[in-house]
Amino acid sequence: MHLLPGPATVLAASTVTTIGATLVVLLIIGLLVYAWVNVRASRAEVGSEIELAPNRKPYYDDDELETRVLNRTLRTALVLLVVIAVALPLYWLNEPSRQSGAEEAFQETFVRRGEQLYVEGSQCQNCHGPEGTGGQAAYTITDADGEFVATVNWRAPALNTVLLRHTREEVEYIINYGRPFSPMPGWGADAGKGPLSSQQVTNLVDYLESIQLSPEEARRQAEEALAVELGLAEEGASEEELDEAIEQIDYDDPATGEALFNLEVAGGAYACARCHTRGWSIITEGEDSVEPPDADLSDYVGFPDGSGALGPNLTGGLVPRQFATYEELLEFITTGSVDGEPYGNNGIGSGKMPGFGDNPNTEDVSDDGMMSQEMLAAIARYAASLTSEGPVPDPNAPSVEELTAEDEEG
Ligand code: HEC
Ligand code: HEC
Repeated sequence: MHLLPGPATVLAASTVTTIGATLVVLLIIGLLVYAWVNVRASRAEVGSEIELAPNRKPYYDDDELETRVLNRTLRTALVLLVVIAVALPLYWLNEPSRQSGAEEAFQETFVRRGEQLYVEGSQCQNCHGPEGTGGQAAYTITDADGEFVATVNWRAPALNTVLLRHTREEVEYIINYGRPFSPMPGWGADAGKGPLSSQQVTNLVDYLESIQLSPEEARRQAEEALAVELGLAEEGASEEELDEAIEQIDYDDPATGEALFNLEVAGGAYACARCHTRGWSIITEGEDSVEPPDADLSDYVGFPDGSGALGPNLTGGLVPRQFATYEELLEFITTGSVDGEPYGNNGIGSGKMPGFGDNPNTEDVSDDGMMSQEMLAAIARYAASLTSEGPVPDPNAPSVEELTAEDEEG
């Protein structure tokens, strides 16, 4: 059986409450007595009706009060009114630009902090090159038992186009978690991988955003490298020579698709092979590139194009195995994959396949990616021709012109 606590129980609950309650009661009684005594004692001041006390000055007479003093007060009021009438709208007009100015200042601070991390704090620059132009990273290969095999150099892709092919969120994910089985470490404290807070990772992406090439600049870089790769221009050729060579590129030639699939420029940023051909990113030519030089790398390099790595194996007829038509295949490599979204006949995206023809950060603009539809159509034709024995071109494959025309209609 329970008894609800009554007021008496509460009061008696502790000595402190009891003393407190008593004090409050005494205080109230005291106040009432004080008020009553005061009211009784109050009277008009002696002589207050008759003359002013000597310490009080006489107030204005009516004449002065209604002319000079009144006018002065009104003038002051008018001036204040004008100040408010002018200043408030001015403030209001200036507010949007003040706000955007503040935003810009924040953005600049973020970019500066990101740059500081890129260059010094996390030394992304050591691998990805100054201003994200691409570079290479040392990597130690160990065998299945963890035994040392060799130290090699690994292509580190340019990051000055990374936001043309990936969303900001995808880039943050890569920075947070890194790329397992490659020299790219994870950096995110949230991911339990490294020292960087999510704010620092965002700042890094802000910095990367500030150094992105335009789609035109990126396409030009790819075209120039392609022209050199195809032997249409010499390395270090002049602008005019390159212009001419680029004109001569035949996108229907399977060699063009192959060269693009394996384009080495900018740390392999344009290449499909760096994710779809195992060992492609390992640099084997050149002195000192492999240490020890006589290391046996046959298990790690030399795999056929598209045989699979981070990205799936592409050999064995992408059309119609995974994509019903060439147009669908072209569309997929144009926009890339979205995490959790299905693609093709039975693919499910992870957001790791970049969109090469359409910047995923600008949803309302199409064809603003790092590669043109012509380039991607040539690559699609090449990728669809891959077999485990090498490329076998499909005589019925639509031409680049047909593919890109189809895309414009759709
Ligand atoms: C030790 C060298 C190294 C360092 C340091 C490094 N990276 Fe990387 N990073 C790489 C390599 C190598 C790859 C490519 C991995 C592969 O082949 O899949 C890569 C890939 C990436 C990618 C994916 C690019 C793409 O298109 O696939 C991003 C984004 C990236 N790094 C950002 C950064 C940032 C930001 C930092 C600094 C916080 C950083 N990296 C530091 C070596 C490095
Ligand atoms: C940064 C790594 C990366 C690069 C670079 C890349 N891919 Fe992929 N690709 C992937 C991944 C990962 C998938 C699997 C889908 C996913 O996880 O979203 C994929 C899937 C694909 C598929 C679907 C294959 C299937 O059977 O489901 C095709 C086709 C493809 N890529 C073609 C290309 C082409 C062509 C290029 C070059 C223009 C390219 N990829 C460049 C990572 C990459």
